[in-house]
Amino acid sequence: MSKVLKIISHSEKETLALGKKLAAMIKEPNVAVLSGELGAGKTVFVKGLAEGLGVKTEKVLSPTFNFVHEYHGEKNLYHFDLYRLSNISELTEIGWDDYLEKDGLVVVEWGEKAGAFLPQKYYLISFKMVSENEREINVELVG
Ligand SMILES: Nc1ncnc2c1ncn2[C@@H]1O[C@H](COP(=O)(O)OP(=O)(O)OP(=O)(O)O)[C@@H](O)[C@H]1O
Ligand SMILES: [Mg+2]
Repeated sequence: MSKVLKIISHSEKETLALGKKLAAMIKEPNVAVLSGELGAGKTVFVKGLAEGLGVKTEKVLSPTFNFVHEYHGEKNLYHFDLYRLSNISELTEIGWDDYLEKDGLVVVEWGEKAGAFLPQKYYLISFKMVSENEREINVELVG
């Protein structure tokens, strides 16, 4: 596991901007696992990614049904949220393996729940709550 970067975000706006900036960087591997407690800023970061990819959507919301939302832009964004995943077999049902083969960017909130189903190489982006508006964000390359 190699550390790519560590930053402190002081606001939602800064986390959005980070996502926007990193959108172009996350390729080979094109999968990012977002980990961190409820309200840590994972979805905010995904909104930034969507902006960075030129995705035309009014809203980026956390996927609840089927665990995934697809956004089509210059590059497609596949946004998973596995918080409600109760059994790993549900991943097979939604075609997880096919998503991993796609060209676009695959971003997975609570992605650590995919366990052995994660690809060999992926970015791990961890969000830690430092204070009400501060988040420590670490980007690492796994595998
Ligand atoms: N520096 C910051 N970066 C991101 N969000 C922040 C920051 N400071 C405060 N916030 C607030 O924290 C909340 C983050 O919510 P968000 O939905 O992104 O969390 P999440 O990690 O996706 O949680 P969940 O696990 O429930 O999906 C928002 O209400 C946002 O305004
Ligand atoms: Mg979320």
